[in-house]
Amino acid sequence: MTKPKNTRARPQLAGKKKPSILVLHGPNLNLLGTREPEIYGSESLEDINRRLSLTGQRLGAQVETFQSNHEGALIERVHAAKLQRSSFIIINPAGLTHTSVSLRDALVAVKIPFIEVHLSNIYSRESFRHHSYFSDVAIGTISGLGSSGYDLALQFALQPRP
Ligand code: DQA
Repeated sequence: MTKPKNTRARPQLAGKKKPSILVLHGPNLNLLGTREPEIYGSESLEDINRRLSLTGQRLGAQVETFQSNHEGALIERVHAAKLQRSSFIIINPAGLTHTSVSLRDALVAVKIPFIEVHLSNIYSRESFRHHSYFSDVAIGTISGLGSSGYDLALQFALQPRP
């Protein structure tokens, strides 16, 4: 008799395709840890990405991370997510939050549900940060909870859905 697979850690995923979550980080987030730590915290992007990947492994999901300082590269990564059949995107568009119609259009075009994350509370900062091109088309936005915003978004993305 073959031993049944151990699905105890995540019983609701039994028999289903492994969820594939893409985490996108926009311009300047490669500098996390040294960039205005009083606003963005002292963790590096590598620390955050490693934690998210480990959570994914623990919960039976594939978590891929990608950072770019280039709008076009982020747009192309979103297009690739469709071909790859990613199930969910978590994105911190960084400065592009307040400027990029094109990155917004890419997310809308691929029809992959996404959560917008900001480390800082963009609404308590300069007025030019108060407008986001992403919030109205996102499932939700997490802003101001530091890097735990990514963890909470991942937790949501991995919740079982009918
Ligand atoms: C940010 C907020 C943006 O206004 C800023 O341009 C960033 C980071 C955040 O995570 O708080 O680069 O998205």
